[in-house]
Amino acid sequence: MRFSGTVTVITGAGSGMGRAAALRIASEGGAVMCLDLSGDTARETAEKIKKSGGQADSAPCDVRNRAAIEAAVAHAKKSFGKITNLVNSAGALTMQGLSDMDEAGWNLVIDVNLKGVFLMTQACVPAIEEAGGGAIVNITSIEAEVVVASGENTQPHYASSKGGVKTMTRTLAHDLGRKNIRINAIAPGLIETGFGGSNPASDQYQEYVHGHSALRRSGRADEIAAAIAFLLSDDASYITGAQLPVDGGWLIY
Ligand SMILES: NC(=O)c1ccc[n+]([C@@H]2O[C@H](COP(=O)([O-])OP(=O)(O)OC[C@H]3O[C@@H](n4cnc5c(N)ncnc54)[C@H](O)[C@@H]3O)[C@@H](O)[C@H]2O)c1
Repeated sequence: MRFSGTVTVITGAGSGMGRAAALRIASEGGAVMCLDLSGDTARETAEKIKKSGGQADSAPCDVRNRAAIEAAVAHAKKSFGKITNLVNSAGALTMQGLSDMDEAGWNLVIDVNLKGVFLMTQACVPAIEEAGGGAIVNITSIEAEVVVASGENTQPHYASSKGGVKTMTRTLAHDLGRKNIRINAIAPGLIETGFGGSNPASDQYQEYVHGHSALRRSGRADEIAAAIAFLLSDDASYITGAQLPVDGGWLIY
């Protein structure tokens, strides 16, 4: 029960890694505030936790919208009395490259993946500080480190957003250390969540994974959740400003 007495706010909690993290943290005794652009999927995650005896609440929240974030943070404090941890898992991707990128695609991905992490962190830090400290985990990507091309094209907005979050994680570790708040990132490899419209069952996806991962398979959301739980917990009490690859060995090549 590593999370007994803690309250974790999770963005993107209606699906994939965010939902898996919510289930994992709740299973270890933590209260979880599930946020997602889709209020319905966030509620489903919270209901699942409550049905198995855990503590959870939910709210719709667009991480690009400061007013929605402030309302969600107030909601979490009202439900559980405090906030101790934050997981920034919400993410967006459009399959656009240099030649076909429009400003709408650029803005969507940068706003959700980069600005959203900043706004959520800015809104939650005062509450975490008030609670005496805690921890934050951001989800970056192997694309913060290496080029992942789909055919001829990369997705420069997505890679830039994830590189930005990696750097933000390091810089905020400096600011937050004195408040007894640790902040780290996880860089997943290819994880079978269907993120960005990917199809894990397709030959193309499987071939790509086999060619790039030392473990010769894609990852599961619960394998990311296990790493999120580690970095949030006191087991990682002297780790801050780090990015942990959870990628089946993708980054060794
Ligand atoms: N799946 C992968 O292969 C992979 C690899 C590396 C990094 N990532 C990153 O992992 C994170 C989680 O992705 P996932 O694989 O669980 O995908 P997912 O699609 O299952 O979950 C993403 C969630 O984010 C939510 N979301 C999107 N825009 C939002 C917004 N504006 N406000 C609030 N919520 C919003 C979606 O509704 C969805 O529930 C993302 O940041 C993604 O960039 C994914």
